[in-house]
Amino acid sequence: MTINVLFVCLGNICRSPTAHGVFQQKVIEQKLQHMISVDSAGTAAWHAGKPADSRSTQVAANRGYDLSDLRARQAIVSDFDRFDYILAMDAENLSDLQQLAPSHYQGTLSLFLDFTGNETREVPDPYYGAGDGFEHVLDLVEQASDGLLQHIINNPVTSH
Ligand code: 4NP
Repeated sequence: MTINVLFVCLGNICRSPTAHGVFQQKVIEQKLQHMISVDSAGTAAWHAGKPADSRSTQVAANRGYDLSDLRARQAIVSDFDRFDYILAMDAENLSDLQQLAPSHYQGTLSLFLDFTGNETREVPDPYYGAGDGFEHVLDLVEQASDGLLQHIINNPVTSH
């Protein structure tokens, strides 16, 4: 029995690959890789096949997370057959996914930051911003990854 987790942003080159790499590493640290499978995708196909943005890869590497093997892909309707958790980075990503979702989807489609205890609900898009936007993404993603992992450990039931 595997619990399948998909992280989704717009381009699948900044926020969702960061979540993918961070959450994957936390799964490995907890020796749960036999139980939890991780992937990421974008609602847009613009960057399909490309590695993560070098700014995301760099700030992640500085904290010990390796994003170098990840390649972007677009979220597709069959993802709803495969993934127990489909977690959006912002409200627009969530709205796009809700439009794509089959009505019979039984999994969890929500904002990733719903798994943190704090009030921030969206991971802001860092792509065009300057400054520490990528560090901020990583801070939010680390917090939500801890919350998500605890949630899955406490609720290990899946439809797959
Ligand atoms: P992401 O960031 O959704 O976190 O991967 C973006 C990446 C690329 C673009 C926008 C956001 N873009 O417009 O190309």
